[in-house]
Amino acid sequence: MNLIIHPDAASAANAAAAMMAQALAAHPRLVLGLATGGTVEPVYARLVELHRQHSLDFSRCRTFNLDEYVGLPAHHRNSYRHFMNERLFLQVNLELANTHLPDGTAPDLSAECLRYESEIAASGGIDLQLLGIGQNGHIGFNEPGAELDSRTHVQTLSATTRAQNSRLFTAPDQMPAQAITMGLGTIRDCRQCLLLATGREKAGIIRQTLTSAPTPAIPATVLHEHPDCTVILDAAAASQLEGLQLPGVALLTNQWK
Ligand code: F6R
Repeated sequence: MNLIIHPDAASAANAAAAMMAQALAAHPRLVLGLATGGTVEPVYARLVELHRQHSLDFSRCRTFNLDEYVGLPAHHRNSYRHFMNERLFLQVNLELANTHLPDGTAPDLSAECLRYESEIAASGGIDLQLLGIGQNGHIGFNEPGAELDSRTHVQTLSATTRAQNSRLFTAPDQMPAQAITMGLGTIRDCRQCLLLATGREKAGIIRQTLTSAPTPAIPATVLHEHPDCTVILDAAAASQLEGLQLPGVALLTNQWK
């Protein structure tokens, strides 16, 4: 696992966007794995800027998102399809037909999970997967207790995740109790992973993730088993790492001090 620390959230997000942009420029038919949430919003803003100002070309790129709420139609303002359309897909020259999220309104959710896995496989697999991390260590919506080799499945959301995300709903009690998420095994199969965490509220879970061996109690620890994973942090998210031994973690850049 490679670790890069930036002084602030903006430069950490720009570094993540730069990695994605370089990969896309080198391989225009890249299969990108995408995440939603507050942490990655500035990454998408930077990618849009790179498209508008530097002609970053998404026309042949294909995308797969990690997750989608069960029961929210694409046009719902809190659906992850809506988030992606607004923040990235409709702002760059991506073909909407090349963008994929699980369908949380599918009548048969188990069949939808299988279909999503097949679609990823048919695309040749995900080249570069962007990840955020929940305060309980979830990646995608793989909550604590998740099987480390799980595939795309329906996940009941934990109380922590509901508390973290319900603030984004106009009526917080309208937040769905379940989501479809890529599994930890699906994420581990991506050729490259890029985890971005910013802000002091992520410092504790980052310390636990980077110091713990893989355990279902902290789903993000599965990334220790990944052969090509980069973690980008800002100083606030890295603030509990000082003086710690981080086995298996190579500190590439520390622009913090
Ligand atoms: C959403 C997802 C989640 C978020 C995580 C962090 O697609 O994959 O794992 O990345 O909940 O969310 P923020 O960035 O809002 O703290």
